[in-house]
Amino acid sequence: MAPKKKTNKKPIEIKQTLRNERKTNFNICKVITIGGAVVIAMLFYKFYSSFLATPDLPEFDLNVWWGRNTSERHDTSIRPYRILFSDSMQENLRRKMEAYRRATRVKSLEDSSKYGINYDVLGQIFAHWQFKYKYGSRVKYLNQYNHYITNVQGLDIHFMRIKPKNTENLKVVPLLLIHGWPSSVRDFYGIIPLLTSAKQEYNFVFEVIAPSLPGFAFSQAPARPGLTTYQMAIVLRNLMARIGHKQFYVHGGDIGHAIGSHMATLFPNQVLGFHSSTPVNPSKLAHLTLMLGEICPKCVANDLVDKIYPYTDKLQFYLEESGYLHLQSTKPDTVGIALQDSPLGLASYIIEKYLLFTDPANKYTHDGGLGAFNVTDLMDNVLVYWSTGSITTSLRLYKESILNYEMEETLSRIPTSVPTWGLRTKYDLIQQPDFILRWKYPNLVRTTNLDVGGHFAAFEKPIEVSSDIFEAVKVFSSMKK
Ligand SMILES: *[C@@H]1O[C@H](CO)[C@@H](O)[C@H](O)[C@H]1NC(C)=O
Ligand SMILES: *[C@@H]1O[C@H](CO)[C@@H](O)[C@H](O)[C@H]1NC(C)=O
Repeated sequence: MAPKKKTNKKPIEIKQTLRNERKTNFNICKVITIGGAVVIAMLFYKFYSSFLATPDLPEFDLNVWWGRNTSERHDTSIRPYRILFSDSMQENLRRKMEAYRRATRVKSLEDSSKYGINYDVLGQIFAHWQFKYKYGSRVKYLNQYNHYITNVQGLDIHFMRIKPKNTENLKVVPLLLIHGWPSSVRDFYGIIPLLTSAKQEYNFVFEVIAPSLPGFAFSQAPARPGLTTYQMAIVLRNLMARIGHKQFYVHGGDIGHAIGSHMATLFPNQVLGFHSSTPVNPSKLAHLTLMLGEICPKCVANDLVDKIYPYTDKLQFYLEESGYLHLQSTKPDTVGIALQDSPLGLASYIIEKYLLFTDPANKYTHDGGLGAFNVTDLMDNVLVYWSTGSITTSLRLYKESILNYEMEETLSRIPTSVPTWGLRTKYDLIQQPDFILRWKYPNLVRTTNLDVGGHFAAFEKPIEVSSDIFEAVKVFSSMKK
């Protein structure tokens, strides 16, 4: 019995250990499965909450005070304003230009425009500024429209207000034009007469309001951090209320698109329709989708395939051309010191963006594409920045956008009910298909694809852009909200 028992016992022991082992294995499996499920659930939740979920609209203080602290009563008057190119500014420029002319300058490498502004282009800009640019007649040109200043949230905000001349049998509708960087209200000089003149096919015409963004050109800069794009949206909404427009249409491009988009999100009952010449949804999900679309470009981009893919080429381009973004998002005040001290440095920095973003192929041409521009027009914009000493404060907007990135992302994921219309130019930097735009703008009425033009659409193609705005507003106003 005993040996039998022994032989019997052993297998039982083995079975027991096996069972125990199985039990522990089972427990480990269970733990791993449950743990895995939890991790996957957490990842899904993380993905969901950071990519898909629609956040609630945060509450905003509509009266943040951006000016210096004073005990003075808030002045709400609207004062006429005139642009000035002072004698001392002109004298100072002459001295700096003379110093530049005498200095030894670094020549560009042969056959290359890719290293930044090209020596010959700079030479042309210098010569134009020195010998062809007439301060007197240009300041007169810039003052052809009515300029005003009014204090909003502690800041003196500049704007142009242009009413249509002949309005017989026409409805006059207010249109807010929002510029970007390195633009100014100067971008709109060509489009304004087109928007404020009656067109035969339309029974309305525009009254245009074009403000300088806070910290840009003739508008005062904030005294403390935080005036990022959605805060600018609040300032512009308050500006429109001051002027007397409770409801209005909005057109924007570049940063003007971001601000207009925030206005449509925060004030859907005031923005009657939003027309954008840079129609983009900046959310993380949009970027991720376009990136994944590399696997099957046609599935994502349809007729925009050639403009979006290969995405790796796009990324390469962004990397090569976005150094300024990084610089301005990190040390705006440092680069600003150099730009505010050198007129030709400032001109190079600004004009390079106009040339490149109008057509990326310009960087491969010897004149950087300058030949296609009216240099006087480009110089006006440089002078607007120079004469107001506002380059540094304009650059700070990039820093604010990064510091307030969470809120920008949150707002980019809150859909707006405002009817929206996108105008894509041929060469604009970021292009997105309609279905991605609809996540942010479910009421996307139409997108127009132009076979001309670049990033500075209103400046470069005023006829095409104004026609598109007229058509958009006609459709917007026929829709019941
Ligand atoms: C100015 O006012 C703001 C807001 O009321 C406050 O946070 C800040 O400390 C004040 N600054 C000074 C220098 O008084
Ligand atoms: C450039 O544009 C200005 C108006 O801004 C105009 O006065 C000037 O004649 C134009 N120059 C050329 C060469 O077309």
